[in-house]
Amino acid sequence: EGVTSLQLKINGTVRTIQAEPRVTLLDALREYMDLTGTKKGCDHGQCGACTVHVDGRRINSCLTLAVMQQGKEITTIEGLAKGDDLHPMQEAFIKHDGFQCGYCTPGQIMSGVACVKEGHASSDDQTREWMSGNLCRCGAYPNILAAVREVAG
Ligand code: FES
Repeated sequence: EGVTSLQLKINGTVRTIQAEPRVTLLDALREYMDLTGTKKGCDHGQCGACTVHVDGRRINSCLTLAVMQQGKEITTIEGLAKGDDLHPMQEAFIKHDGFQCGYCTPGQIMSGVACVKEGHASSDDQTREWMSGNLCRCGAYPNILAAVREVAG
């Protein structure tokens, strides 16, 4: 069907793209806005590589249409650092080697930030449960857990 004009607020900046209404938020980010930090693993809600925040809450960007997220605050991994200052969760992932190949890392970090912010990191078990939708094929889970634990304090 026809291409339409979509306005999306990404990392504090409103951007307009011309896309079909069936375009997912994930594809809008990657294919229309060159924001390739958000990864496509499965494209159907099973891996968490595409995790971003919408109005401060995490979401699998492959499972929502861009058209539905107009007027909301979307934050991607590119928007997490403040200038040269990495987000504490990014620092913690580096410190604890919370990645190997790195493909799942942006999603892990976005999920980890939301996990702590929403109060789901009071124990390792709770963190594991809450982040169970973020898969890591390298098996870096212990180090990812260590990073989240550190930020949770
Ligand atoms: Fe969205 Fe896997 S790409 S959950």
